[in-house]
Amino acid sequence: PMGWNSWNTFEVNINEDLVKKTADIIVSSGLKDAGYEYIVLDDGWMVKDHRDKNGDLIPDPVKFPHGMKALIDYVHSKGLKFGLYNCAGTQTCAGYPGTRGYEYQDARFYANLGIDFLKYDWCNTNGINATEAYTTMSKALKAAGKPIVFSICEWGDNQPWDWATPVGNLWRISGDIYPCFDCEYKHEEGNWSSWGVLRILEMRKDIRKFSGPDHWNDFDMMEVGNEMTTIEDRSHFAMWCMLASPLIAGNDFRKMKPETLAILTNKNLIAVNQDKLGIQGFKLTVEDGVEVWVKPLSDGAWAVTFLNRTELPKTINFDWKKHPIKDADFGFDADFAKNTYQLQDLWKNKSAGSTKKNFTAAIIAHDVIT
Ligand code: GLA
Repeated sequence: PMGWNSWNTFEVNINEDLVKKTADIIVSSGLKDAGYEYIVLDDGWMVKDHRDKNGDLIPDPVKFPHGMKALIDYVHSKGLKFGLYNCAGTQTCAGYPGTRGYEYQDARFYANLGIDFLKYDWCNTNGINATEAYTTMSKALKAAGKPIVFSICEWGDNQPWDWATPVGNLWRISGDIYPCFDCEYKHEEGNWSSWGVLRILEMRKDIRKFSGPDHWNDFDMMEVGNEMTTIEDRSHFAMWCMLASPLIAGNDFRKMKPETLAILTNKNLIAVNQDKLGIQGFKLTVEDGVEVWVKPLSDGAWAVTFLNRTELPKTINFDWKKHPIKDADFGFDADFAKNTYQLQDLWKNKSAGSTKKNFTAAIIAHDVIT
């Protein structure tokens, strides 16, 4: 899935006007043409302390004065899709009514509203079993009869890659992202941290084999356009493309700089992300702090990204012939000593020689070449 989610920038400060403007901009800016489709309202869309007399959730009438249905209809009228958020526990992470004990009722509520996507979080779950909780909600959504993408968000704590393929369509593999390239942000309240781009990149080992079409490892909503440099945003985006992660933007489209839009709509990189094999890339090697990531593509090509994760400019001098690729998980390989590949620079959108010669390039700190 590709789209936008309100949380990274707005947290619970969401409203009807923001959603409508976001939908308008997705269409007018080219984001929709580039593939961004889902508008997902995260935590904070409900009235806080109660359900209605029938036990239904209540969309906040101050934030959404014309009602949730009218807003969803508006988003649909733009040719886009709409998502909501709730939690498997008694309350959401921000303290709104959770779904525990109301799974079938909430699923019917969402189906009646016509939503297309549900993000389902894991706060206030007090020891319940994750596989069972997510399976129950998955069955409830199916029973409600409206196809809804089911986005599992338990931060990878219960190894969803082992059990969630038949349950959901994407599952978070980490705690929350933070808009920094390589930091851990420790929250003052509670014992938890949010994580920079490189930290999430390295968080799990050996789970790429579990990711694929309709059951994705989700590296979290993007922070492109938020607090990192343009170079870091580019690298963040390139890596999410290499990982075949869902591309859910998390910035304020109303204040987006042209360079942010250019990153988010880069057709070459999006083609790598959306490639129909749906294989998550992996780190092939590291040379002098520059990582080399590779991802097999459906047309027999490979996407290759050089990532300078150091604080220094580096010079790449990469001998392809010394680095055959073997993808043991999916059975793809490339032997550059036997076969020559033509190179295409996806950011510059121009050819870059072939694998016959060493690939040489200067790469500044935190940058990528794909
Ligand atoms: C959790 C999730 C975030 C966001 C917030 C909302 O932290 O991981 O992505 O949904 O809850 O409260």
